[in-house]
Amino acid sequence: MTRMTTTRARPRQLALITGIALAGAASLLALRAAGQPSGSANQPPLAVPAAGANLQQIERGRYLAAAGDCVACHTLPRATPFSGGRPVETPFGVVLSANLTPDADTGIGRYDNDTFYRALHEGIDRNGHHLYPAFPYPYYTRVTREDSDSLLAYLRSLPPVNHAVDRNQLHFPFNIRALMAGWNLLYLDKGTFEQDKAQSAEWNRGAYLVEGLGHCQACHTPRNRLGGPEKDEAFRGGRFADWFAPDITPNRRTGIGAWGREAVLEFLRSGRNVHSGASGEMAEVVSFSTSRMTDADIHAVATYLASLRPSPMGTIAIPANAKMAQGEAVWTDNCAACHREDAKGVQRAFPPLASSANLQQRDPTTVLHYILAGAQHRPTDAAPTAFAMPAFAWKLDDAEIAAVATFVRNSWDNQASPVTTDQVADLRKRLAKSSDAAAPWPPEVKPAHDLTRPGSATWSKAGTDSRDNGTPHAGSPAP
Ligand code: HEC
Ligand code: HEC
Ligand code: HEC
Repeated sequence: MTRMTTTRARPRQLALITGIALAGAASLLALRAAGQPSGSANQPPLAVPAAGANLQQIERGRYLAAAGDCVACHTLPRATPFSGGRPVETPFGVVLSANLTPDADTGIGRYDNDTFYRALHEGIDRNGHHLYPAFPYPYYTRVTREDSDSLLAYLRSLPPVNHAVDRNQLHFPFNIRALMAGWNLLYLDKGTFEQDKAQSAEWNRGAYLVEGLGHCQACHTPRNRLGGPEKDEAFRGGRFADWFAPDITPNRRTGIGAWGREAVLEFLRSGRNVHSGASGEMAEVVSFSTSRMTDADIHAVATYLASLRPSPMGTIAIPANAKMAQGEAVWTDNCAACHREDAKGVQRAFPPLASSANLQQRDPTTVLHYILAGAQHRPTDAAPTAFAMPAFAWKLDDAEIAAVATFVRNSWDNQASPVTTDQVADLRKRLAKSSDAAAPWPPEVKPAHDLTRPGSATWSKAGTDSRDNGTPHAGSPAP
């Protein structure tokens, strides 16, 4: 979610998008004709806190903002929480997040309960303009009116920060917001969450959190070229930025079906368990969101995930013997010391690679990301020590990395398609670009993927901003 890459429109995409543009413009006109309020920038800001807001409601809103992980996207490193400006990647390019503090001119100070609910529910801002789905309104549309009002009450209780953000950084034609009316016709399944009476209260609570505020599908469901979710493939794993968010259905090989309930709970609370560890995007989800949920809510999330239909077992190509032999040699020299010879790892420190769901995904991006860029546990209150894996980009070439990735994906009960040298070369290029100094981060900030500076050089602990790990600012307080 932090990468600055611009997707170039391919001709087919352009033809499609032009079609959508027309549909978009037409539906926008229809909306206007239907008398959508258009708002005026000169209106005075509403009183703070909003009429009727009480402390209990504000506290509830604070909790819901954590469940929705709002702070992760809406805060730049070291900036005031919720003051906006963080780049979020979309298939069309990058959109910067909005200032959610109650500043009247640059923040959400002029929103009222109705316009705020419409933003979450329909992706339309206070002035009637379309928002981009980089803001996960296709999931927040499930949020109830009561919860929406509480979220706004909380945001309005924050100190206002005057921070103007030039959010729309997209190129023509994607920079035309009206296009999103067409996108919404295709992909927005609008509507507040509806209870399923046949299911338990816990299941319904889990469904509400996972499908709504938690927006788990935003990463864990594959998307088509226009960023629309592949609904038939829900929760079966999707590419997000330079990661692959794995299958989280109860499939026993590629999903979390073999984990057991306690392991799922431990992962959501602490970001690690005996099977895996959360890095990158998921580490943020855990540290800003799931680790801050109540026990009852984490249980509800686990209950809902366990009820999903397991993904089907796919067919897998068998790797060549020579590649496996080369991979084994690289493994013995570079990896076995930490992950152990039998790949069972060291509990909660070095994750096991044996029988690992994360390793057996159809898309090897996450495995390659670990090997190329290294990784560091994000500390949570439940697991404050940050173990690190060094980057190997400087040491191993593309063929060696393809071989060792193929080897770990096909040993100790793992089975997954071989990794090609091209796949490694491609991700290496993208990671190097994402650490480009041209990215609009404050220039003194080391970007997330400095391939020459693995995270182990720095330290961090619970209560610090985990996004600073691997930068000279590691250890600054968490928002
Ligand atoms: C995945 C990243 C992401 C997350 C998570 C996220 N947002 Fe946003 N949000 C954005 C982006 C990007 C924009 C700007 C969209 C645009 O300009 O079209 C935005 C815009 C908004 C706006 C419109 C503001 C305006 O000025 O009109 C509101 C309101 C908002 N977000 C509320 C929230 C709330 C509440 C949460 C948590 C429940 C949240 N967002 C979580 C990325 C995110
Ligand atoms: C911003 C993208 C993003 C969002 C949102 C997200 N995830 Fe993830 N998730 C990932 C990525 C990427 C990984 C792999 C991380 C790694 O290997 O360290 C992951 C890993 C996981 C895993 C571990 C799977 C394994 O086999 O190791 C679980 C469980 C999980 N996520 C559950 C959830 C749930 C539940 C939600 C919603 C509350 C959620 N995720 C929301 C990106 C995301
Ligand atoms: C210095 C110890 C160390 C070495 C050497 C090391 N790793 Fe790791 N590895 C780790 C740690 C610690 C993590 C967990 C990081 C996290 O959760 O953010 C990890 C995580 C991983 C993961 C993700 C597992 C999951 O699902 O959470 C993979 C894949 C991986 N390593 C592969 C390798 C390979 C292949 C090599 C050799 C090229 C290697 N590692 C060398 C320490 C090491």
